[in-house]
Amino acid sequence: MVTVNTNYAKLSESYLFSTIAKKVNAYQEAHPEADLIRMGIGDVTLPLTGSIIGALHKAVDEMGDAQSFRGYAPDLGYAFLREKIAEHDFQKRGCSVDADEIFVSDGAKCDSGNIQEIFATDNTIAVCDPVYPVYVDSNVMAGRKIMYLSCTEENGFMPVFPKDVPDLIYLCFPNNPTGSVITKAELQKWVDYANEHGSVIIYDAAYEAYIRTEGIPHSIYECKDARNCAIELHSFSKNAGFTGLRLGYTVVPKDLKRDGVFLHKLWARRHATKYNGAPYIVQRAGEAVYSEDGAREIRGLVDYYLQNAKTILTGLREAGFTVSGGTDAPYVWLKCADQKDSWEFFDELLENAGVIGTPGAGFGAGGEGYFRLTGFSSHENTLEAVRRIKEHYA
Ligand code: MLT
Repeated sequence: MVTVNTNYAKLSESYLFSTIAKKVNAYQEAHPEADLIRMGIGDVTLPLTGSIIGALHKAVDEMGDAQSFRGYAPDLGYAFLREKIAEHDFQKRGCSVDADEIFVSDGAKCDSGNIQEIFATDNTIAVCDPVYPVYVDSNVMAGRKIMYLSCTEENGFMPVFPKDVPDLIYLCFPNNPTGSVITKAELQKWVDYANEHGSVIIYDAAYEAYIRTEGIPHSIYECKDARNCAIELHSFSKNAGFTGLRLGYTVVPKDLKRDGVFLHKLWARRHATKYNGAPYIVQRAGEAVYSEDGAREIRGLVDYYLQNAKTILTGLREAGFTVSGGTDAPYVWLKCADQKDSWEFFDELLENAGVIGTPGAGFGAGGEGYFRLTGFSSHENTLEAVRRIKEHYA
């Protein structure tokens, strides 16, 4: 008789954002009149921009013409997109990353879970606490041991080096959920640590477009020798609004070798075997992000959400909350009012202000007592949410 993967029994019953969606749906059913403002999951609200829509239409037309129709995409991604990524996201920033080190995918969330497949199951995984839950849940599913790096208000929500050396280290900056950023000097220390101990860093740069402060690295490859220890994940969701289109990529440098094996070779094997490539039309849309107009439009989207984050940050500070993040990130991290636990605060905010956020405890034990709000709403809803919160707490 078949047996199941018992590691799933170690997980909470549903994924954090599914639990929140269920709770919100139940509340909305019981209070159909409630005017809810959604600042929970980091999903964008602005529509796709003109350049992207134009590229999509053109690609759709090509698919309807026998001369330009495309079937299976190249398994690692179309060269037209990989070359643009290498040039704009890396080479223009002085990072040495080549197009054939880029693996196009349907998003950073999937890649952050899938990448561990090329590593042995007895590897120990280090994650920040609080943490984006996908890193933890996907590794628990595989039966790996997790080591938590405590990120607290006292240490500026920065991970500290653990006593026991982990094999894989997940780092995400600008950080989800705390919105904290890392300086190049601090990131260099992690690169040096990984190179010294033979660890691999999985660097999630999904929010790099939100960096506005000089000197904050957009890529781990800005650090010396990072090609020898780091894999980097990118997303088109948060900068270009592709949460519904799905597009991302992973960089695995060709020099990165562990256990006598080049990781690029393993990931290429895995990607080619289990994945059939992001759709042609979506990769064309991704290419448009790097056009002159596309880049300008995308910057406008990010500026819009950063303005919201600023509104939240300022408004909540005025209301007496302890807040952080939100300047180089779309996320604002706050301490729950009256020392409430984070799920209690979630209910209270929903009932008192009709505002949906994410309880810090959903991001791990270190998030208890904290709460995350996102800048991804409209300006109007963000202002209204802050007004309601102030009304109740100021
Ligand atoms: C979040 O809210 O943490 C993100 O939207 C989740 C994701 O990007 O998958």
